[in-house]
Amino acid sequence: MDQLKRHIKILMDLGFEEIFLDKEIEIMDIKEKEKLIVEMNREIQSCTKCDLYESRTQAVIGEGNLNAKLMFVGEAPGGDEDKQGRPFVGRAGKLLTKLIEAAGYRREDFYIANICKCRPPGNRTPTPWEMEQCFPYLQKQIEIINPKVLCLLGATAARAFLNRNVAITKERGSLINWEGRILYLTYHPAYVLRNPNAEITLFEDIKKAIELSQH
Ligand code: URA
Repeated sequence: MDQLKRHIKILMDLGFEEIFLDKEIEIMDIKEKEKLIVEMNREIQSCTKCDLYESRTQAVIGEGNLNAKLMFVGEAPGGDEDKQGRPFVGRAGKLLTKLIEAAGYRREDFYIANICKCRPPGNRTPTPWEMEQCFPYLQKQIEIINPKVLCLLGATAARAFLNRNVAITKERGSLINWEGRILYLTYHPAYVLRNPNAEITLFEDIKKAIELSQH
């Protein structure tokens, strides 16, 4: 970072007024990213912006490769996630992990997060207001991690980004430009557990999202 600051100062001394950053360029080193995520986690663990803090065991910030070019985004922690403090570790998470591994990768290769960091009681869908309160945390995480592709798992995650209702069976597979990044819409693994015929589609979507993030 110091080196980058010195470089920018030299450019300014030379009369440059604007610098166009390529999203491919990693401007933060991993230590700095770690520090920011640890700070954010501290903030999230004591967050009381919405009512979900009352019933949580702990907030679940997310986990994975802080330099990942692909981030999976789900809805909110469930019971297992709330207990363990890790995203996607219950039945739906096991399916997600299985499909990532079947594609030839490990879940640690990517970053996995949720729209809401705290478990809604009884695993109900988070309300629009709860999602709105929590979304800035995810936005900050996205800035820090700087993924090229955000693979949105299910209609709720898609709704949070697009600010409209999403019929996921109609819109899955869509690629949408969002603040210079690619949103890739697909099914939530919990939906696939209830509709096993959709597993092959989720698998193909995961492979496509991985491929998009690499080019
Ligand atoms: N469902 C989600 O949306 N997120 C999790 O972390 C677990 C289940």
